Amino acid sequence: MTIEWYPGHMGKAHQKISELIRTVDVIIEVLDARLPASSSNHLLQELRRNKPCIKVMNKNDLADPAVTKAWVRTFERETGIRALPLSAKQYREVNQLTRLCLQLAPTRGKPGRPLRAMVVGIPNVGKSTLINTLAGKCMARVGDKPAITTCAQQIELRNGIILSDTPGLLWPDMSDQVAAYRLATTGAIGAGALDYTEVGLFAAEFMMQRYRELLRSRYQLTDVADSATAVLEAVGRRLGCLVAGGEIDLHRAAEAFLRELRAGKIGRVSFEEPGQDAGEASGGEGNQPA
Ligand code: G4P
Repeated sequence: MTIEWYPGHMGKAHQKISELIRTVDVIIEVLDARLPASSSNHLLQELRRNKPCIKVMNKNDLADPAVTKAWVRTFERETGIRALPLSAKQYREVNQLTRLCLQLAPTRGKPGRPLRAMVVGIPNVGKSTLINTLAGKCMARVGDKPAITTCAQQIELRNGIILSDTPGLLWPDMSDQVAAYRLATTGAIGAGALDYTEVGLFAAEFMMQRYRELLRSRYQLTDVADSATAVLEAVGRRLGCLVAGGEIDLHRAAEAFLRELRAGKIGRVSFEEPGQDAGEASGGEGNQPA
């Protein structure tokens, strides 16, 4: 099944982000650390021109640490880009973001010269969580101050940083179906747009190839099968996803497997590495997206 998913009013959002970017000093692009390429939007590169950009690799608590390090090295080769792996739910980690913003725009963040930043990213990468963690701890709404009521959609962080409190919504590239399946695996795509069994098989194939040991350990398998269907059946058996007669309910097994994978119960997993073509390590012969 081809995954097609266009959340919200994408055309308008694009225009709005393009206008907003001109007014900010630093762009905070939120990515999913488990799939930093598939969760990005290639148009942002164009829209940002030379503006400094922090690639926040969120949900780092769920990603493979070694792969995350490789991504940071790759991103930071680019001029004006810094990469920051973190978990948006952890204030201490999120707090590093304000420091990094000030490093990237050193003439800003001073009295009378606030640093303006905006958060952009595709749905579900954790933009709202990030803003809430920042906002919850240390700021006042700029709009609360009578002199600047026109800035009601901004929040003032410590250190002279003003953050746009409406996250800029971008969209992933659905023409790349491997990316779409990776996004579906992490739960970034609306459930109505996908077939759970197909996504479960895709994920099982990937795990079988790349994180066999995690599968073996989580599901106490003496041996990990060499076909995605057999892996999913073994998981289904272990999780009690059965129909009358003791057969495995593959759909339920896929749902349960994806739930566990997304919650990090199988272990810390990254779905793509720098320099990898879309098709590589994406699931083997039998489970390539149609
Ligand atoms: P968005 O604004 O970019 O659309 O994303 P949002 O903040 O709504 O986050 C999407 C989901 O990702 C939420 O889970 C949120 O809790 C989770 N999330 C955000 N940051 C992190 C992180 O650093 N680590 C982990 N493990 N999860 C994170 P949800 O299940 O949709 O909602 P909820 O039940 O947690 O509220």
